Amino acid sequence: MTTEKFISISEAMKKARVSQVHSASSKSQSKGKVAVRGWIYRERGSNELKFLIIRDSTDIIQCVLKKDKFEKQWKDIDKLQVEASIEIFGDIKKDSRALSGYEILVEKINIIGVSDKFPINKSLNEELLGDRRHLWIRSRKMTAALKIRSSVMFAFHEYMRKNGFTEVDAPSLSGATSEGGAETFEIKYFDKKAYLTQSWQFYAENIINAFEKAYTIAPSFRAEKSQTPWHVTEYWHFEMEGAWFDLQDDMKVTEECIMYALNKVLKENKKELEILGAKLSRLEKVKTPFKKITYKEAIKKLKEKGHKINYGDDFGANEERGLAKYYGDCFIFVTNYPLSLLKFYHGEDLKNPGTGTNFNLLAPDVGEMVDGSQREPDLKKIIERLKKAKIDLGISDWYLDSRRYGSVPHSGFGLGVERFVGWICGFDTIKDAIAFPRTPTRIYP
Ligand code: 4AD
Repeated sequence: MTTEKFISISEAMKKARVSQVHSASSKSQSKGKVAVRGWIYRERGSNELKFLIIRDSTDIIQCVLKKDKFEKQWKDIDKLQVEASIEIFGDIKKDSRALSGYEILVEKINIIGVSDKFPINKSLNEELLGDRRHLWIRSRKMTAALKIRSSVMFAFHEYMRKNGFTEVDAPSLSGATSEGGAETFEIKYFDKKAYLTQSWQFYAENIINAFEKAYTIAPSFRAEKSQTPWHVTEYWHFEMEGAWFDLQDDMKVTEECIMYALNKVLKENKKELEILGAKLSRLEKVKTPFKKITYKEAIKKLKEKGHKINYGDDFGANEERGLAKYYGDCFIFVTNYPLSLLKFYHGEDLKNPGTGTNFNLLAPDVGEMVDGSQREPDLKKIIERLKKAKIDLGISDWYLDSRRYGSVPHSGFGLGVERFVGWICGFDTIKDAIAFPRTPTRIYP
């Protein structure tokens, strides 16, 4: 066990910056003794010198080792490969030639864990990178994306807590489906059948009769065979439900959460966005209020733009992405879908009969990012809708207790975390917006 006080690479560079300022008046070279530790990111060397770029969770830094200082250890140092873990002690100084602008002249090195030849390189295809995902997450791209994801998660929680929402979680295992359809994972639950949750919503609509304003961020599962870049089979679902909320309140919270998270990332993840080459202008141009159009207006616009679509048809990915583009490459709420396209729980807009009190928030390049609605509060109407759709809630009949015992107007939404993070990072797939994506063909690592 060493007694050295290790600091992170970013702290070491900060220390060098500070000592540079302090020594500026005396014009002496900026120097500082530091102890850092991490993994070898790049290595190159000659007979006399070894350059190791090491990374930790905060940054990377070049370290220079001179053979004459390490005669006894040189054989081991020379054998070091990418991803070996080491401890470094030395003098840090500014060096504009180094990758991160700083360099450590090494006085002492401890080799903690040697590494075999690291099986990740630029020539690997998506399949092989997927097989080695547990190693690939060490890459700068993946760590940058996952740090942005972490900021987004934190921001969602922070926004909700600051605004009086209670986090109330629900089980992932259920005896019945909620969203229904072929997209349900059926599993064996002892001697019964069970299903992996698709949404927290059934629980939420009961939960709000106790907590009024509630949310969760939890995995949802969709057995979707379609291998689109914007679908995974297990995704993180940020869902909110509010008692006494109408559709306008619902859209307001959606918009505020998105802006809160976006501003947090813009403030705290500049470095990660730079590593990813994400265009800041794309993110900075997002302004509130987001544009709102109705489904009917959307159909008109799509027709004008040459899409073959009629009132009553569902939007495909092309239509959704198209709409976000036609309205200035920005987020856009589409409201009032025909009831025929909606679920039994969506409310009806009595001012525009036949259409729902619902919205989809469409994002540029992604398409649907959030699905929300004011729910139908009237038990009789829900039962009629269930009959019409030939749905028997079966053991999920408990859901309707939300309407039997003091029903109130209420609304909520579900946002796909990976779709939002993928959009922020400027990715063309959401698979890199989650550490270990699950797809129809990928169940490990
Ligand atoms: O549109 P969905 O199915 O809506 C619901 O589940 C509602 N019960 C939510 C609610 O009102 N509480 O899914 C909501 C969002 C979508 O807008 C999309 O962002 C995301 O979940 N999503 C997926 N993300 C990644 N992969 C998939 N396979 C997804 N399916 C839905």
